Amino acid sequence: IGSKIYHFESIDSTNNMAKKMASEGAAEGTIIIAEEQTGGRGRLGRTWVSPKGTGIWMSIILRPNIAPTEAAKITQITAAAVASGLRKIIGEDVGIKWPNDIIIHRKKVCGILTELSAELNSVNYIVVGIGINVNMDTKDFPEEVRRIATSIKACVGRTVSRKNIVKEILHSFEELYSDFTYNKNIKKSIEICKKYSVTLGKEVKIKNKEKEVVAKAIDLTEDGQLLIKNQSGVIEKVFSGEVSVRGI
Ligand code: BTN
Repeated sequence: IGSKIYHFESIDSTNNMAKKMASEGAAEGTIIIAEEQTGGRGRLGRTWVSPKGTGIWMSIILRPNIAPTEAAKITQITAAAVASGLRKIIGEDVGIKWPNDIIIHRKKVCGILTELSAELNSVNYIVVGIGINVNMDTKDFPEEVRRIATSIKACVGRTVSRKNIVKEILHSFEELYSDFTYNKNIKKSIEICKKYSVTLGKEVKIKNKEKEVVAKAIDLTEDGQLLIKNQSGVIEKVFSGEVSVRGI
């Protein structure tokens, strides 16, 4: 991971660039980083504000030998890697809100966008995009963003080296991802996701296309899916959707 790193001043989206490079044959582990994204993308078709020089806007190209249905595991591995990496640097209470948000002081500092290209039953490539608000002043965030998002600088009260963060995250990612590819094992990642989870044990609201349910988040499965207990006591598995946790 990271044996080839492409660094751009300004591009539309590192995920777009990574997908383009992957489709042209870029190797597993290739990394795209940009100082600024002019068309940063978030989940569910949202835009991801990515100003110059203050954040980490990065994508990793992966070519795991897995079925497309397993792609969500990559998001869990990445969330575990980002949380562990950030903890090493800032030692703060860094939490994971299932499935893909990293939370400090109840607000989001990082989002993960996993995109997949598959043929029939095998993955061609996966691009995992990581966006971290590092050194921006939250007063510059739009009002509605400020309520739900924060930056590392705002949390720890000092500027933090983006380079060190990238280094620690890639280090953790390398370890957790190779455990997965060599041993077909994401136990370690799931353990980390459980340990740092801000979702488990809480009442959650899950919105997806069909419905909105209120339930208690009780566990993560070995595959990284959320287990919830609904109001009639029935236990269900959640694959995706938008989760909100009370108070976060
Ligand atoms: C989310 O929480 O909605 C996911 C946000 C992902 C943002 C990152 S920034 C680097 C990469 N390039 C993009 O266009 N998006 C991801």
